[in-house]
Amino acid sequence: MLIETVVPLRNANLDDVLADARQRFTHANPKSKQRHLAAAAALPGGNTRAVMWYPPFPLTLSGGEGCRVTDIDGHTYVDLVSEYTAGLYGHSDPTIAATLIKVIQQGVLLGSPNQYEARYAAAIVDRFPAIERVRFCNSGTEANIMALSTARAITGRRKILAFREGYHGGVLTFAHGGSPLNLPFPFVFADYNDAESVTSVIRSNADDLAAVIIEPMMGGGGCIPALKDFLELVRELTAEIGALLIFDEVMTSRLHFRGLHGAHGINPDLMSLGKYLGGGASFGAFGGRADLMDRFDPASPNAFSHGGTFNNNILSMAAGFTGLTEVLTETASREMNDRGDRLRAAMNNALEAHDVEGIVLGRGSLMNLHFVRGPVLTPAPLDGADPRLIALYHVEMLLRGFHVTPRGMLALSLPFGEAELEGFFAAFDDFLTTHKQILPRGFAA
Ligand SMILES: Cc1ncc(COP(=O)(O)O)c(C=O)c1O
Repeated sequence: MLIETVVPLRNANLDDVLADARQRFTHANPKSKQRHLAAAAALPGGNTRAVMWYPPFPLTLSGGEGCRVTDIDGHTYVDLVSEYTAGLYGHSDPTIAATLIKVIQQGVLLGSPNQYEARYAAAIVDRFPAIERVRFCNSGTEANIMALSTARAITGRRKILAFREGYHGGVLTFAHGGSPLNLPFPFVFADYNDAESVTSVIRSNADDLAAVIIEPMMGGGGCIPALKDFLELVRELTAEIGALLIFDEVMTSRLHFRGLHGAHGINPDLMSLGKYLGGGASFGAFGGRADLMDRFDPASPNAFSHGGTFNNNILSMAAGFTGLTEVLTETASREMNDRGDRLRAAMNNALEAHDVEGIVLGRGSLMNLHFVRGPVLTPAPLDGADPRLIALYHVEMLLRGFHVTPRGMLALSLPFGEAELEGFFAAFDDFLTTHKQILPRGFAA
């Protein structure tokens, strides 16, 4: 769907082209604009979630079906935001919806173990090789906080090694030098996929390093896959000095039926989960080696106390179980990730064919477009991109009927099929053709 035909401006510069796209977007979305302005009376900037904000104003969505969403101005979009990977099942999976309706009718907030959490825990242990025991919580952020705190308590050490530009939650954000809201842990930093950097930081902090936290593919950091050798090195070094290795698989567990650690055959000591594993409801979990996790057994001496009113809420427990065991079959997982590999390859081919300096990084169903020259192994070169380029792509793809993230990340969902892939690719190719003059030249993979 083209909301308005795009006619390239003659002799325009990038500022003019972006302003023109934003003006067409504003013109097409009066109700979203009005709602956004009104929302600011109670929400700072009209917003309660940083990634959902973009200029000139974010679309307000009113509904979703399959892999499509609808906004309050009446436009329908093919959705590749996929709720920042949590929307893996799409917006209306009938099996999950039936489960949710059933459990709501049976009564919510029971205040005791229910019949769902142990069953779901067993399914997670069965699915992910590194998880022998699991605890549930309410978000990926909370899962990482619990995993890090557990590592510090068990090792009796203080420091945490994280990777520059990594993201592990609202209070564990290491992009652009970190956030003033971060947890006050003593963090030390290394460069992703850089063997020398990680070796030196781990060795020089060996006595006081409690844990290394790493995503096996940097998601928020730009969809940079970790080299398998690099992950193996981090596994060896942490074992050597007695620090715990924590894989944050909040996003990446969707990249393989057994999680990305399962695909690589590398087991961390602890790992975190989140997003789609709530089946559409809020979710977090951390788990790993039984000897570590068994400290959470309330009957054990020196047990760690871990509360959380909604840890075992029946909506997440029941919908998550149905999704993981009935909907995300091995075949469904493989097909979704294969489709993502094909889309990424097609987009890179299109960038090459148009000789545009850009690269789509990622793996399987998760990828990120960057207007920089490849190859890219660490996040530092991504900072060199002109932010106006990805902003232009974002608005232009919205105007073409594709709901994409402002930072260029795309996440496929199960209902996103071949027709949607072809439609998205055609729109992307049209974007490149239309704006060729303004995009940087010089493709290199
Ligand atoms: C890798 C990673 N870890 C943790 C989180 C935090 O999860 P949540 O938003 O559920 O707190 C995110 C969220 O995007 C994430 O991408």
